[in-house]
Amino acid sequence: MAETMRLLCEEHANLAKLLYVLERQIETFNAGGQPDYDIVEGVIGYCLSFPELCHHPKEDLVFRKLMAIDPAAADGMEDLEAAHEELAALTRKFASTVHRVLHDPGAQRLAFARVAQDFLYLYRRHIEMEETTFFPAALKALGPEDWAEIDAQVSDPDDPLFGARVEKRFAALRQEILDLDRADIEGGE
Ligand SMILES: [Fe+2]
Ligand SMILES: [Fe+2]
Repeated sequence: MAETMRLLCEEHANLAKLLYVLERQIETFNAGGQPDYDIVEGVIGYCLSFPELCHHPKEDLVFRKLMAIDPAAADGMEDLEAAHEELAALTRKFASTVHRVLHDPGAQRLAFARVAQDFLYLYRRHIEMEETTFFPAALKALGPEDWAEIDAQVSDPDDPLFGARVEKRFAALRQEILDLDRADIEGGE
């Protein structure tokens, strides 16, 4: 498998973990508890940076190549670049809602729950669409030379959450992910 596609799949697996972490925080909140805002802000901070700067642009590259090679593949597929813009706008809305909740917790409970659910739903739906429609279409249409051309254009910086060096602002989130991974392994034994 081409390096870019391998990275995209790995990043989807990481994003799925991140969304699960967020879902747990939303459940705590909906049950009347206090979410860990360091973790919630970590999820948002990460989604505003790495996927925006590295994940979606790689997909846009593949999408443009797919459209050039096989325009019919777009039939029934939503416009990926527009979908990424929609995701980015929702992520910014979620970030500003969380910012307001931190300053006025009582008044913003409903807004937080609604925007958080929208964010979770849209992100998961987007990933599912890509894995069931976009990725298979790209794998079918693009040949080794196309992938080599795409791979040559990709040069991502290190992932600041899932990479070897974790940024300080993501420390609580990284720990939560490690704890969940460990609980998963122990639960599966
Ligand atoms: Fe995407
Ligand atoms: Fe994706």
